[in-house]
Amino acid sequence: MTTATSEELRLTDRINRIEPSATMTVVAEADKLRSQGIDVVGFGAGEPHFSTPQHIKEAAIAAIQENFTKYTPVAGTAELRDAIAHRHNMDFDSDYRREEVIASVGGKQALFNAIQVLVDHRDEVILPVPYWVSFKDIVRYAGGDCVLLETDENQGFRVTAEMVARLISPRTKAIILNSPSNPSGAVMSPEDMTEVVRLAHQRGIWVLSDECYVYLNYAARNFSVGALREYKERFVLLGSLSKTYAMTGWRLGYALAPSAVAGAIAKLQSQSTSNPTSIVQKAAVAALKGPQDCVEQMRLEYIQLRDHVMEGLRSIPGMTCTMPEGAFYAYPNISAFLGRAGLKSASDVAGRLLREAHVATVPGEGFGTSDHIRISYATSRAELDRGLERMRKFFAAL
Ligand SMILES: Cc1ncc(COP(=O)(O)O)c(C=O)c1O
Repeated sequence: MTTATSEELRLTDRINRIEPSATMTVVAEADKLRSQGIDVVGFGAGEPHFSTPQHIKEAAIAAIQENFTKYTPVAGTAELRDAIAHRHNMDFDSDYRREEVIASVGGKQALFNAIQVLVDHRDEVILPVPYWVSFKDIVRYAGGDCVLLETDENQGFRVTAEMVARLISPRTKAIILNSPSNPSGAVMSPEDMTEVVRLAHQRGIWVLSDECYVYLNYAARNFSVGALREYKERFVLLGSLSKTYAMTGWRLGYALAPSAVAGAIAKLQSQSTSNPTSIVQKAAVAALKGPQDCVEQMRLEYIQLRDHVMEGLRSIPGMTCTMPEGAFYAYPNISAFLGRAGLKSASDVAGRLLREAHVATVPGEGFGTSDHIRISYATSRAELDRGLERMRKFFAAL
């Protein structure tokens, strides 16, 4: 059987502009090896190893029993939108109202919709490197151009207003911030974030602040752009329950935005998925209004795992790694190994680590750097030890 080319299929220009998510590709390859009976250590997928807390699961079960199984308003129930606003206002000193909240099928859909609504053909979007894989492709899908903001690993991948200012052109429409960052775990200081938001406000540029990992900030002082109320009409904040409450499979995220933008996002959503799953909305209300100690317990556990993985990575001769300050990723620099044993790129390293050492990681190319691999340490200590041991042997043999 021959496979038709995308030209023969007459696929759209927009779909040909984007690539499948690098993270999903690695997960699929690792699954393929597993299906052949190979024991693969998974450092690839970006998801918590914890189970969803019991009280959240019970709320979903109750929703089914009570037949809460019909369509809801596109942007989510009033109860859920109020719960999202209330939680954020309480935790981050913001002042969101129901009209400024839209619930979506995961943070990814909220981001996708926000970009489709704000980024037009040929608009420029400033994107700090390293970036989460999907940002670039979602901007491209909308017809926009990403302008990459290079950062310095030795400065902790810091992004400052001066760095942003240098890249602003008459075509600049938005800047994407992601703190804590996937893939580097870097956290922007409240001061740097404030300065970037202030600059964007002055220059009439949108800030899209992806705060999916905001509850996994290891610093004592947690911060959201939502606190910068005076600049609110210029930013859209993206949030998610996926990582905060170990709910990746449930698919519930949200955008907090000026009501006109939230309305535009709802209009788009009304023509695609409509509301997020009704049952999941009930579970989300239980998550947001219920006890929050589960969130803190997970955060403390991630800090321990971070320390453990960093000790392991730094014990591999030649490998260096910036200390992650949030999320659950380490982003070690593997440039010392390039040129050895035919390894030319991070993709080569990740590919051979998977095929020869049976450790799944994600190559840095997908995140815009070619000297790194991403390791997700959201796994048990025992699994971390198994994977680190395999990595140690692999790199020692090069
Ligand atoms: C930076 C970032 N934003 C958004 C998402 C989307 O998460 P979800 O769609 O599960 O809410 C992810 C998931 O990995 C992420 O890493």
